[in-house]
Amino acid sequence: MKILGIETSCDETAASVVEDGVKILSNVVVSQIDIFAAYGGVIPEIAARSHLEAMMPVVEKALKDANCTWDDIDSIAVTHAPGLLGSLLIGTLTARTLAILHDKPLYATHHLKSHIYANWLNNLSEQSGNEQNQNEQKQNPEFPLLALVISGGHTQILYMPAHNDFKIIGTTHDDAIGECFDKVAKILGLPYPGGPAISNAAKNGDRNKYKFPHPKVDELDFSFSGLKTAVLRTVQKELGLPISHPSHDLKNHLTEQQVADFAASFEKTAVDILLEKLEKAKQEYPETKSIVFAGGVSANKALREAAEKKFPGCYFPELKLSGDNGAMVAAAAYYEIISGVQPTDPYSLNIYPRISIEK
Ligand code: KG4
Ligand code: ZN
Repeated sequence: MKILGIETSCDETAASVVEDGVKILSNVVVSQIDIFAAYGGVIPEIAARSHLEAMMPVVEKALKDANCTWDDIDSIAVTHAPGLLGSLLIGTLTARTLAILHDKPLYATHHLKSHIYANWLNNLSEQSGNEQNQNEQKQNPEFPLLALVISGGHTQILYMPAHNDFKIIGTTHDDAIGECFDKVAKILGLPYPGGPAISNAAKNGDRNKYKFPHPKVDELDFSFSGLKTAVLRTVQKELGLPISHPSHDLKNHLTEQQVADFAASFEKTAVDILLEKLEKAKQEYPETKSIVFAGGVSANKALREAAEKKFPGCYFPELKLSGDNGAMVAAAAYYEIISGVQPTDPYSLNIYPRISIEK
C-alpha cells in the first residue's frame, strides 16, 4: 500500500511516498528556516504564503522520486492538526483537492501522532531489505509503550497500549521544550532555530559550569518557562548587569566561551529534566515494553546519548525524520488504516490548530 503523506503544519513544506508504513520511497522537505532565521522566529502569514509556492512542486517531486504516477498511489494523508492555521490550510486544501481530482481515500492525521510514527519508518519487521542493512535495522517498538513528544509546540509523555491509542500522562504547564531551546538561544545570541544552534555551541562548553534548578512540578508534568528565566538571570549576574538590563542586548557582552558554557549547562539541565520525568513514568507504568522519542528536539545529540544510557534500546527516529516531514504522516495514516479508521470526506475536512492527540 503506497501512501502520499503531506505535511505543512509549521515552516516545512513536505511530501513523501511510503510503502506499507515502513519503506520510504521518497521524502521531499522544503524548509523555510532560511527565511525565518532573519526574523528570529516563524511569522505565520509568511509561512502560509511560502507553503503555497512550494506545495505542488514538492508533491510532484515526491511522486517523481518515488517513481510513481497517481495510479500507483493508494491513499493521501495530510496533517490537519495541530499547527499554524494558515499553514495547515495550505496542506489540507491541497490534499483535499488532490483526493477529489484523483479519486483517492483521504486520511487526516494529528501532527504529534505522526512524529511518534516516525519511529516505525525504515524498521526491519515489515521490510524485505537486503541482509547487510538488516543488522543495523531495528524491530518496531513494542506495546505498551511510553512516548516522549518533544517539539517546538509540545512536551508530553504519552502512554500507548496499542496502535492508534494515546493517553496523555504528562504535559507542560507553560513553554514547550523546543520553545525553551529557541528562547535561550535568543538570549545567547544564537540563530533560529535554537535547538541545533545550542547543541552546536554546547560542544565547546562546560556543562557543569552553571547550575539551573529543576522545576517543581507535580507528577509527570513539565514546566520550562522557569528554566528560561533562570538562564536569563544567571547571564545577567555573570555579566554584572541588573535584571532590568534588556535581554536582547546581553549577547553583545558574552564571550564565545561563556555562550558555549551557558549552552552546554542549559542543554544538560533540559536533558536531565526530560529523562527524570520519563524514568518516573516508567516506574508508574512498569508494564512498558518500549520507550520512544518523537519531535524536533529528539534530534538532540546530548539527549540521544543520555537516553541510550538510561533506557538501553530506546527508540529515536532517524535524524532526518526527527523534524517535520511527510513520511511520518504517511506512516501514521498507515497505522490508522490497519486499525480500521475510515477515510475522511475531502469535501468537509476541517483543520484544528490546537486540538489534543486524545480527541
Ligand atoms: O517537530 P518540530 O520540527 O516542529 C514542531 O512540531 O514544533 O520541532 C521544532 C523544534 C524547534 O524548537 C527546534 O529548536 C527544536 O525542535 N530542535 C532541537 C534540535 N533540532 C531541532 N532542539 C534541540 N536540539 C536539536 N538538535
Ligand atoms: Zn513537528
